[in-house]
Amino acid sequence: MAKSKTSSSKKWWKEQIIYQIYPRSFFDSDGDGIGDLKGIIEKLDYIKSLGVTAVWVNPFYASPNDDNGYDISDYRKIMDEFGNMDDFNEMIKGFHDRDIKFVMDLVVNHTSDEHEWFKQSRSSRYNLYRDYYHWWPAENGKPNYRFSYFDEKGDAWKYDAHTDAYYLHYFSAKQPDLNWENPEVRREIYDIMHFWVKKGVDGFRLDAFQFISKDTSFPPFPKGYQNNVVDVIKHHGMGPTLHDHIREMNKEVLSKYEVFAVSEGVGSSFEDAHSLVDEDRNELQMVYHFEGVEVGNGLDDPHTLADFKQVHSKWEASFKDNGWISIFLANHDVPRMVSRFGNDSDEFRVASSKMLNTFLLTMRGTPYCYFGDELGMKNIYFQHISEYQDIAAKNGYKKALSEGRDMKKFMQNLSFYSRDNSRTPMQWDNSEHAGFSSDLPWIAVNQDYKEVNVAAQETCPDSVLNHFRQLTSLRTNNPVLIYGTYQQVDKDNPEVYAYSRTLDSQVWLVLLSFVETDSIFQLPDNMQSFEIQGNNYSELRINDGRAKLKAYQAVVLSQKG
Ligand code: GLC
Repeated sequence: MAKSKTSSSKKWWKEQIIYQIYPRSFFDSDGDGIGDLKGIIEKLDYIKSLGVTAVWVNPFYASPNDDNGYDISDYRKIMDEFGNMDDFNEMIKGFHDRDIKFVMDLVVNHTSDEHEWFKQSRSSRYNLYRDYYHWWPAENGKPNYRFSYFDEKGDAWKYDAHTDAYYLHYFSAKQPDLNWENPEVRREIYDIMHFWVKKGVDGFRLDAFQFISKDTSFPPFPKGYQNNVVDVIKHHGMGPTLHDHIREMNKEVLSKYEVFAVSEGVGSSFEDAHSLVDEDRNELQMVYHFEGVEVGNGLDDPHTLADFKQVHSKWEASFKDNGWISIFLANHDVPRMVSRFGNDSDEFRVASSKMLNTFLLTMRGTPYCYFGDELGMKNIYFQHISEYQDIAAKNGYKKALSEGRDMKKFMQNLSFYSRDNSRTPMQWDNSEHAGFSSDLPWIAVNQDYKEVNVAAQETCPDSVLNHFRQLTSLRTNNPVLIYGTYQQVDKDNPEVYAYSRTLDSQVWLVLLSFVETDSIFQLPDNMQSFEIQGNNYSELRINDGRAKLKAYQAVVLSQKG
């Protein structure tokens, strides 16, 4: 197949810097302890001041909140706790007035069990909505095992006595999977998309999208099946009809507007990922792969810098000529960026946060910056199960207990990896509840808020926040950071991640130290003469053509011709 050179072609969505907002935790305008849309409206100028060009806001549709909004009961209504449609209209206008694009989270692998479709579907085997979901009649015996991420037993089939049948839920029991093989379901989804595009949204983040198509005969897993990432995706998603459905969605919706769509999850190979976004496929625009945030084998066997470089470089290489990727180090499903990839000790939190932000904003691909990472917010590290709010943590705990697992180890892991780490409230100032709310927040505030907060960082020229702003401006004003090619330099250096970005005659070099000590980096011949475009320290020590980087130093250099 001839490959088109789509990766270097200019597209508006490649040029975005996306800021991800978890609305529940961003700003509470009405004092109920829960963030809301009016809260986002109050902070529009702050968001603009960051230099980001687009936002992705996690789901704010009507929802009983079994999974914080990822269980939707009405796709055309706003969640009561977050406000109403007037607030939405005002919010999106506020973004657009500031030239900020708006990306909507579209959760259509599943709905809430409280969605009208499911209520109908569950009511009778003969109901018109029965085939909107996957049902397995009990007289056929127990269905073959399918894995569920949030189920207490890890079982995706739930027995429902009312019609003596099981329904499928890859996530919680309150998140039944939609049956995408039913054309009526697909039509409903396209209608929902039209509805929101007409309200002004500029893009869709397609939640759990690799799972929409599955083998609906639900055969037994082959011998040797393992409950690992590759096998789970292969045998639960990326099904035979996936591309037909996406092409239909492209034809019916995406191609009709100036919108883009990014797929959360990309299958289990580069081939899968390319099949979703290469331009000649006419499907989606951007992939959001997880390998970058899954690097390493857990707390006992963490990743090395070599692993980190390798993951990002291999994705970059694969998408060099064709397709386009997202760049991110955190989101609402993983730990805080600085705790996971930097060093969140008092001594190095600031330097390493700036270093990681430099990575996000100088790599090739569209950066997704998670709210709070522009301040260097870190993990809260809950110790007791009663502190957790996330269904994945609560049900994961029950599952581990029932399986007789080593609970001390389980709790250690949870404390580090729990999604609640990245869901603690935004730290606005040093007043009570970090200025997030006048009432007790729905989830605990990280106690470092007295030092780590927006107000304190606004007034400090070399704060993480102001460094972030310098970097967004650098990226926006220098196409070399967007379209320039990427090449690793001194690839085997165990302490420094270095890469060049090259566009036409422009050559830039990024040096990122990942260690607590000084490190030496030999500047290549073509970079002996340079200008400093970005630096997270006040100086750069150079001796004999070698840079002596400080702990977690991050510099961006442009070649002087
Ligand atoms: C995605 C979301 C996650 C959610 C899940 C189920 O992975 O990012 O937060 O729990 O889908 O919708």
